[in-house]
Amino acid sequence: MNVTPDRAQFTAMTEGTQQDWSLIGSHFREFSKGLPARVLTHLKLLDGDYGGFPVDRLEHSLQTATRAHRDGRDEAYVVMALLHDIGDTLGSFNHPEIGAAMLRPFVSEEVHWIANTHGVFQGYYFFHYIGGDRDMREQYRGHPHFEACAEFCEKYDQSAFDPNYDSAPLEFFEPMVGRVMSRPINSIYAKVSEAA
Ligand SMILES: [Fe+2]
Ligand SMILES: [Fe+2]
Repeated sequence: MNVTPDRAQFTAMTEGTQQDWSLIGSHFREFSKGLPARVLTHLKLLDGDYGGFPVDRLEHSLQTATRAHRDGRDEAYVVMALLHDIGDTLGSFNHPEIGAAMLRPFVSEEVHWIANTHGVFQGYYFFHYIGGDRDMREQYRGHPHFEACAEFCEKYDQSAFDPNYDSAPLEFFEPMVGRVMSRPINSIYAKVSEAA
């Protein structure tokens, strides 16, 4: 039997009490405050990861976000641009879905859709060179966010491989990530976070 005062007393959730869950809730609120820092630490894993591209994946991320910021996009959009490829490390075959899932609690449905679907739209610029169909994005033609995703790839993503571009450093985006990822607007756990 676990009797550590700072831990719940149940061994199965069927035995959980209000006291247990109040305790877990307080831990969750503290843990969730560290989310932006954990995300940025993970993003740094892309540093030095070139994969044959002219710039590494961290520089590509910074450049995509910088281009979006300088084009006047709002913070949630810029943070999405920064994190759109963060899934490259763990989702080599579905990276857009990883970043999109991380962003989903904090961004609009449109911004989430862009993150989640950008891989297909980015393919317009290269799928025909790797044996695929560059028009794969046409399956989404007519979707309310089709143009927004196409625009993201055209203006910020496909163009962010320039080694000579003066991208803002990661520190520039840290406060934005902190603000955007501190308040979930769409999460089944939002209530416990609101109590913070
Ligand atoms: Fe991507
Ligand atoms: Fe990208």
